Amino acid sequence: MPHAELNTAVPHSARIYDYLLGGKDNFEADRAAAAEIVKSSPSLPISMRANRRYMTRVAGHLAAELGIRQFLDIGTGLPTSPNLHEVVQGVDPTARVVYVDNDPIVLTHARALLTSDPAGSTAYLDADLRDVAGILGSPELATLDPARPVSISLIAVLQFIIDEDEAHKIIDGLLAPFPAGSTLAISTVTAHNEQAVAGAKTYTARGIPAKARTDGEVTALFRGLQLLDPGVVLVNRWRPAVEDAEVEDYHVQMSGGVGVKR
Ligand SMILES: C[S@@+](CC[C@H](N)C(=O)[O-])C[C@H]1O[C@@H](n2cnc3c(N)ncnc32)[C@H](O)[C@@H]1O
Repeated sequence: MPHAELNTAVPHSARIYDYLLGGKDNFEADRAAAAEIVKSSPSLPISMRANRRYMTRVAGHLAAELGIRQFLDIGTGLPTSPNLHEVVQGVDPTARVVYVDNDPIVLTHARALLTSDPAGSTAYLDADLRDVAGILGSPELATLDPARPVSISLIAVLQFIIDEDEAHKIIDGLLAPFPAGSTLAISTVTAHNEQAVAGAKTYTARGIPAKARTDGEVTALFRGLQLLDPGVVLVNRWRPAVEDAEVEDYHVQMSGGVGVKR
């Protein structure tokens, strides 16, 4: 499936996210969409920062506590330090990471994701998450040894896959080739508060279909996997770090969890 062409007149989720995190890789259409989304969902920037910290805690935990050394991160987004490979190579410099995104702007910035420690490696694949066969069959996947466990991360991207059957099919397909001990890490928008629901509606109205799931729907995405403690929770509550104590639940629009393949 070909990726979206770069059209700076149309807002894109990666650049809206970049803008709301304080980045510079965005255009007028993205900033206008972001302004409208924040009107209906003023907590979104706080929630996005909490989500980014969640990603780093999850990656650190998988590397340090579960000994995972291979990572397939899909819906990576624009480089924002620390990037996933920096976190896991901080635990073990030999860790290998394949990044996947379908935004042409992320592709142009991929260099910043390819700054692997020489002992490990990173690769970047320009692909659509829906094209599971294309991702798994790509030359970039040769970076990962299919005989050893792989962590698949879908962080803040599944809200853009609005059909549950399609989300399940993607997840099952991605996990299929990898051995027991492989993991799935997710965060996605949940309908805990009106702002998350309103934000998803505004994305949809701006041409980026998005949905806020129930926690039950998020938990169902881990079917057949063993969920690590504390299960599916608001991202600020997943093994929180000190700075998460400052985050109020009502600002957080995403839930997340980590499951292990048996
Ligand atoms: C909200 S950002 C999240 C970035 C990063 N994972 C994080 O949590 O900090 C969502 C990312 O998913 C990407 N994305 C959206 N739909 C996608 C698709 N169908 N295939 C691949 N990437 C997609 C966007 O380009 C964007 O970079």
